[in-house]
Amino acid sequence: MENTRTYAIIGGTSGIGRSLARMLVERGDRVLLGGRSHQRLDSTLKELGQRTSGRVVDITDRASLEIFFRQSPRLSGLFTPAATYVTGTFASGALESSEELFRAKFWGQYWAVHSALPYLNPDASVVLMSGAASVRPIGAPAYAACNSALEGLARGLALELAPIRVNCLSPGTTDSDLWRNRPDDIRNSAYDHWKTLCALKRPGTVEEQAQAALFLLDNGNMTGSTLYCDGGYTLR
Ligand SMILES: NC(=O)c1ccc[n+]([C@@H]2O[C@H](COP(=O)([O-])OP(=O)(O)OC[C@H]3O[C@@H](n4cnc5c(N)ncnc54)[C@H](OP(=O)(O)O)[C@@H]3O)[C@@H](O)[C@H]2O)c1
Repeated sequence: MENTRTYAIIGGTSGIGRSLARMLVERGDRVLLGGRSHQRLDSTLKELGQRTSGRVVDITDRASLEIFFRQSPRLSGLFTPAATYVTGTFASGALESSEELFRAKFWGQYWAVHSALPYLNPDASVVLMSGAASVRPIGAPAYAACNSALEGLARGLALELAPIRVNCLSPGTTDSDLWRNRPDDIRNSAYDHWKTLCALKRPGTVEEQAQAALFLLDNGNMTGSTLYCDGGYTLR
């Protein structure tokens, strides 16, 4: 009988999540994909083929997460790059870039792992998504705090959920759809600024981030760690 592994990716219909889904499918695994847009989900399922299935899900909605995992097969892994948020200064006092940011990025992943728990194999691997602003903020203090909180969450969950492994991927600026969907002038000036901040002087690629996530999914001795895939940004 075929011994196929299944991985769930919430935020798997674009960018880093979709790139990881492609890598998993190409090596023979199955992937359960989630995202909010029906259209993006359908086109990703069509593109990646028969080893994928998917459901619409909003990571900020606990009921939606419960429905997403209901009838899920046993899972070898979970990756949660889904998040939609805005960033801003502390002085602005805006809820959008403070509490709502945490609701989208921190609490979304927190409850996603909780909803997935009954379906995770004892040797499953969870990869959370933070961002290298956790250790080197550029303004937006709540965004720095949210990413640090996710890295702390990975450490806490690694202890409580062992032998399930839990790690965090912390990317630097990456040329994903998150940036490609923004106006050219905003994207180009962010990329130019990024080049002055990191050692490799270029944004990362979605494939590089997906490879890093795959390493965390696969390596049986990695747990409670954060992997900074950031072109040396956090060195300076
Ligand atoms: N790209 C970067 O420069 C960078 C740097 C550091 C950290 N990150 C982190 O990487 C993650 C984004 O990955 P990406 O760059 O590959 O972005 P992306 O291409 O925009 O992909 C985001 C994915 O998440 C889904 N999504 C967004 N909000 C969702 C929600 N509320 N519920 C369910 N799915 C949702 C999107 O589909 P729908 O819109 O259809 O829901 C899409 O599949 C974020 O956590 C971000 O903070 C990115």
